Amino acid sequence: MKKTKIAVLISGRGSNMKALIEACENPKFPAEISLVLSNKADALGLDFAKSKGIETATVSHKDFSKMENPRESFDKKVSEEIENRDCEIICLAGFMRLLSPWFVNKWLGKSINIHPSLLPEFKGADAVGDAIKAGAKVSGCTVHFVHEEMDSGPIISQAKVDVLPDDTKETLAARILQQEHKIYPESLKKVCQNLSVSE
Ligand code: GAR
Repeated sequence: MKKTKIAVLISGRGSNMKALIEACENPKFPAEISLVLSNKADALGLDFAKSKGIETATVSHKDFSKMENPRESFDKKVSEEIENRDCEIICLAGFMRLLSPWFVNKWLGKSINIHPSLLPEFKGADAVGDAIKAGAKVSGCTVHFVHEEMDSGPIISQAKVDVLPDDTKETLAARILQQEHKIYPESLKKVCQNLSVSE
């Protein structure tokens, strides 16, 4: 069975990355993780990936800050690392960097993201806090293809989570995260299956 090579991009804890790695351990799952890349050397997820024998890389955005076009220069280096491992699909998993139009267009239809809200509601870095502040009764998570506008792009899958009256940001985020860990591997499977049909 052909396994699609995946690059997972993280910035921190990496629990979604872990869910993807564990899904890929199933011989029947149509993907394998060939690279976990972080923009932060101390991202916790890197240790887990290494413990599973997965190749890791760090590209620090800070190293590009003095360049003429820092965001694109950083993105070009990240893209090079991904291409060097022949990855076909990129999974953003808590990767807290805005990607340049250059990167997004290069990987259009090949990069997917997970976000802790029912998009298009509550885009941005504090989606769970924003849902609570707005008094939402239901929130959830979304896996979508990455487009130029932040937290937009065709939706692959969503899961709803009730917001309980006494929820804090932490309790709601934890219940949403449980759903993220289910829909991200399922969505990746779908994307890989469609890719092999179109090849
Ligand atoms: C996840 O909840 C993910 O949805 C969110 O960051 C968390 C990363 O957790 N992403 C965003 O908010 C992107 N806009 P993880 O590192 O444990 O996977």
